[in-house]
Amino acid sequence: MITLISIALLSLSLADSWPSPVYVSDEPHLTVVASQPKVITFRGGNATLPCRLDRDIEDAFGGSTMRIKWTKLSPDFSKEIDVLVSMGFHKKMYNGYNGRVHLQESDENDASLVFTEVRLEDVGKYKCEVIDGMDDATDVVSLELTGVVFPYSPRLGRYNLNYHDAEAACLEQDSVVANFDQLYEAWKGGFDWCNAGWLNDGSVQYPITTPRGPCGGNNTVPGLRNYGLRDKTKSRYDVFCFTSNFKGRFYYLNNGFNMTKFTYDEAAQACENDGSQIAKVGQMFAAWKLLGFDRCDAGWLADGSVRYPISNPRRRCSPTEAAVRFIGFPDKKHKLFGVYCFQAFD
Ligand SMILES: *[C@@H]1O[C@H](CO)[C@@H](O)[C@H](O)[C@H]1NC(C)=O
Ligand SMILES: *[C@@H]1O[C@H](CO)[C@@H](O)[C@H](O)[C@H]1NC(C)=O
Ligand SMILES: *[C@@H]1O[C@H](CO)[C@@H](O)[C@H](O)[C@H]1NC(C)=O
Repeated sequence: MITLISIALLSLSLADSWPSPVYVSDEPHLTVVASQPKVITFRGGNATLPCRLDRDIEDAFGGSTMRIKWTKLSPDFSKEIDVLVSMGFHKKMYNGYNGRVHLQESDENDASLVFTEVRLEDVGKYKCEVIDGMDDATDVVSLELTGVVFPYSPRLGRYNLNYHDAEAACLEQDSVVANFDQLYEAWKGGFDWCNAGWLNDGSVQYPITTPRGPCGGNNTVPGLRNYGLRDKTKSRYDVFCFTSNFKGRFYYLNNGFNMTKFTYDEAAQACENDGSQIAKVGQMFAAWKLLGFDRCDAGWLADGSVRYPISNPRRRCSPTEAAVRFIGFPDKKHKLFGVYCFQAFD
């Protein structure tokens, strides 16, 4: 009796484990190869995630029963999100992918996935899976975007965002919560920030290039300081957001002829009168990092903060480094600043 129960348990756990047991023979009948581990594009661009299959000729029954399935792995790899499933002529796209993805199918062994109009949230790892009878083969490709990582805390001040607030905060700034690879790349590029922020896997980290007392200690090595996975509801930190190229025009506006400055409300109105919107923080970072935008005038942004982007460091602007300078969240009634506007194209 006891033996029977343990066998039942064993088979249950086998069925639950992943990858599922596959057809066993001397050689694999089917293999799947992504010729590149990652593909890099930009927001609004196209991308082809490569995936080729290789199968025994005698084993291929015309491919009529073969199923190609693309899924996206969640940031912590705990889940798979359906993207596309194809069986012969039948194709189904899921979630927000409908109309934006298709199979390349340049020949019968091409299972590559073509993306159009890539979005910020498309970044991640995608699994190409081919199932043919008893055979099942997979490979994984990363989709990455060129862009910029920036730290964000709201008017409330430092360490006020739980994970869900952090997601909303980035979204409001035309960005998404950054992933580990994006923060790591930014750190390699010299990004140093001594406040901890959420990443999209639910961990909290911060990048240090110049070790110092309050940022993990004097005698530590440069790197990403990692607080580990935090409670997404109860823990409160800042956030690292990621954004990429935009389709639009980012520009500074002051009060035309007489050069007077704006209150926040006047600033927002001035952009609207100009056929635009008051710009978001992510748009300023994208303009600065990706377009080399440089302007030594402090201006309002949509979240009520005042900043200015400097690409060419100089006296009285940002003498030591190219940076987006942060003035703060002034009283919205203060008539002290210009404004940055954003006009979306399309
Ligand atoms: C993406 O592909 C579509 C259709 O193939 C094409 O019309 C469009 O110009 C491409 N976009 C970019 C940014 O290359
Ligand atoms: C780090 O260095 C600074 C300046 O050298 C010193 O004042 C501080 O006490 C040091 N902190 C630690 C934790 O060693
Ligand atoms: C400057 O512009 C503002 C807003 O249009 C206006 O209210 C103000 O009277 C102008 N000041 C002068 C000196 O023209």
